[in-house]
Amino acid sequence: MSSFFDPDILKQIKQYETGVNVIENFVSQDECAELLNYFRNLKNKSVGKSQSVEREESTKIFFNFEQSKKLLNLRKKIEEQVGQFFVNDFQPHVITSRYPLRLHADTGKNPKDIIFKNIIIPLEIVYSEDAREKKPPHTIIFKNKWYDQSALFTQNIGNDYDFIIKDKSGKFVDILDINDFYQKIYNLNNQDVSYKNNNFFVDEKFKKYIENLTKSKRYNIRTNKHMINDKQFDLNDYEKYMSHQPFEDCKSLEIDKAVEWKIGSLIHWDRSRIHSSDNFLVNNVLNKTPLAMFTSKTKF
Ligand SMILES: [Fe+2]
Repeated sequence: MSSFFDPDILKQIKQYETGVNVIENFVSQDECAELLNYFRNLKNKSVGKSQSVEREESTKIFFNFEQSKKLLNLRKKIEEQVGQFFVNDFQPHVITSRYPLRLHADTGKNPKDIIFKNIIIPLEIVYSEDAREKKPPHTIIFKNKWYDQSALFTQNIGNDYDFIIKDKSGKFVDILDINDFYQKIYNLNNQDVSYKNNNFFVDEKFKKYIENLTKSKRYNIRTNKHMINDKQFDLNDYEKYMSHQPFEDCKSLEIDKAVEWKIGSLIHWDRSRIHSSDNFLVNNVLNKTPLAMFTSKTKF
């Protein structure tokens, strides 16, 4: 099988692989709260180079380590653990997820990049008020590797237009074809609409939001090429972690580690690894926020 990466690059990528690593209490709880505060302030003030992307299912705030002394120190501290790294194609960010991320790999888009580690530091977990017990979210890292460009793994590769949005009651639903949906609501105003058994309230703001989704560019390709055999995914693991994703999408996959989130842990794994969030919504988690970055050994 030919690889997306240049042969010599691929060889080096593999040489740097170390699997899944977790260092607990890497950053103190107080420091995590402080970092989060700093980023959210930046976003609200919209100053400097900080940019953000606001969606119903997530909020991303981008940053550079160079923008503060504290961040430079954090970078140094991370490098002491994982080794020297560079960040090339996707800026470091803080992401608040209100809907769990699905199966993907953050391998980038450059065949000459020696991709290195996915790195996250959980900063915050918000539980719903009526949560009886607090079951922390997990990041699921599979044994399966991917040496092609950044991808979302799904059986549904026919279209590239699906988005997760909120219905009228605030529940997240998967709209498979955002363009088709936009056509249906385009002429409506201040009224309810039923679309594929889900109800939405359509006003100008909602229409604008959907219109923007129809214009947004995708970073990940959609593929089913992770399915390399007919091995069904473990049903217990599916129910425990992966029920936000169709069962068939998990074919061929095998969990390496389900890493439990502890605030302030440093969690890193090879960028070639397929990974996903667990379905934290079933455990009464409203949202979760890590600091996240994709690192490389190449400096461009
Ligand atoms: Fe990821």
